[in-house]
Amino acid sequence: MAELSPLPQDFVWGTATSAYQIEGAVDADGRLPSIWDTFCRVPGAIDNGDTGDVACDSYHRWPEDLALLEQLGVDAYRFSIAWPRVIPTGSGPVNPAGLAYYDRLVDDLLAKGIKPFVTLYHWDLPQALQDLGGWAQRDTAYRFAEYAEVVGAKLGDRVRDWVTLNEPLCSAWIGHWEGRMAPGITDPAIAVRASYHLLLAHGLGVKALRAACPEPPSVGLVVNLSPCEPASQSAEDIRAARIADGHVNRWWLDPVGGRGFPVDMVETYGVELPEQPGDLEIIAAPTDFVGLNYYFRQIVRADDSVPRLGFSQVEGPNQEHTMLAWEVHPAGLEELILRLTKEYGAERIYITENGSAWVDHPDASFAVDDPQRTAYLEGHLAACARAVEQGAPLAGYFAWSLLDNFEWAYGYDPRFGLAYVDYATGTRVLKTSGKRYADLIRAHRR
Ligand code: NOJ
Repeated sequence: MAELSPLPQDFVWGTATSAYQIEGAVDADGRLPSIWDTFCRVPGAIDNGDTGDVACDSYHRWPEDLALLEQLGVDAYRFSIAWPRVIPTGSGPVNPAGLAYYDRLVDDLLAKGIKPFVTLYHWDLPQALQDLGGWAQRDTAYRFAEYAEVVGAKLGDRVRDWVTLNEPLCSAWIGHWEGRMAPGITDPAIAVRASYHLLLAHGLGVKALRAACPEPPSVGLVVNLSPCEPASQSAEDIRAARIADGHVNRWWLDPVGGRGFPVDMVETYGVELPEQPGDLEIIAAPTDFVGLNYYFRQIVRADDSVPRLGFSQVEGPNQEHTMLAWEVHPAGLEELILRLTKEYGAERIYITENGSAWVDHPDASFAVDDPQRTAYLEGHLAACARAVEQGAPLAGYFAWSLLDNFEWAYGYDPRFGLAYVDYATGTRVLKTSGKRYADLIRAHRR
């Protein structure tokens, strides 16, 4: 593979997971349902009728997850905290047993020399808050800040690195506009309000963490971005790509970067923002890093049949597509890192997720050879190195994912793990890609 030597010496190597995708144990120790527990019960919502009820059972098997992290030799582990474990009804009483799980996880990671990168919200809103209107309601942003304060006060003496929200795009657009994720709403006006309140929650969360953590925290937002390219050079397709860029990228980056909400998108959505005086300053609260999740680019064409947005995606030209039909395009990662650096002035960037799903075939001895995932990993790390060579302040990379897990509406079929999980027994084993990652980490430290 291409040279990785331009990566800085103190580059953070990590892997990532999220609570609902791995923990299982959905009613253990006082946890109450989240919107995902509810959504998984909607007939037809999830492929094969899968749920996160058991998942990788990491709530019980976390020592095995830690053993994998040690085998990989990573510096850091990005995981998320389940709000419905910590404050089961979303606001009000804290559940000490729920917090204790993460307290111990943090201690054990640190004992092994692995830095915890904690995400506060990876999509599992307490159902009790959804019953009050969820992200469509401004109040939910304040409830999030209270939750952030509780977690920061408990773990902030040991956790330095924090993510407020993971991919608000998915919560807002896929959860409230397209309805393919929890809470399964299909109303663009509600989706726009939800997007606004999510960003407000981020800003309030930054402030709450800074106030609550005994040690000064490093805090950022994780966004999933895609380069949006026109399918042709026609004026219509070029305009469509600009709107796609607004919907996917600028809607999130502009307000947190202090530029306010993009005017062309407010017009495109045709929805009045629930803005109150001072909100834009809260949303633009200074952060310490940008977390970038990258999976694919989007090639778009003008499409009048799509209400409001007027664009749709067409298949990308590269030969290779993952099992989710996502185009493999490492150059898109380089492009996005450079855009964050040049256009948005990012001073510290982490790739907080990047990875690919393939059909894996364990052999008789339970070994999994996954050349496509390995090549994907190498190709995207090479893209990172090229961006660094051009001056980007890239500080780390978290492979998605440490282990195969519950891939939301797609259930368990897509496997993203560097470690294979046999769901019948819960057994985990590093795939070839995981071993390769360990080698790359070792080689970089030499
Ligand atoms: C991004 C999400 O944060 C994560 O939960 C998901 O599994 C991966 N993308 C792959 O789709």
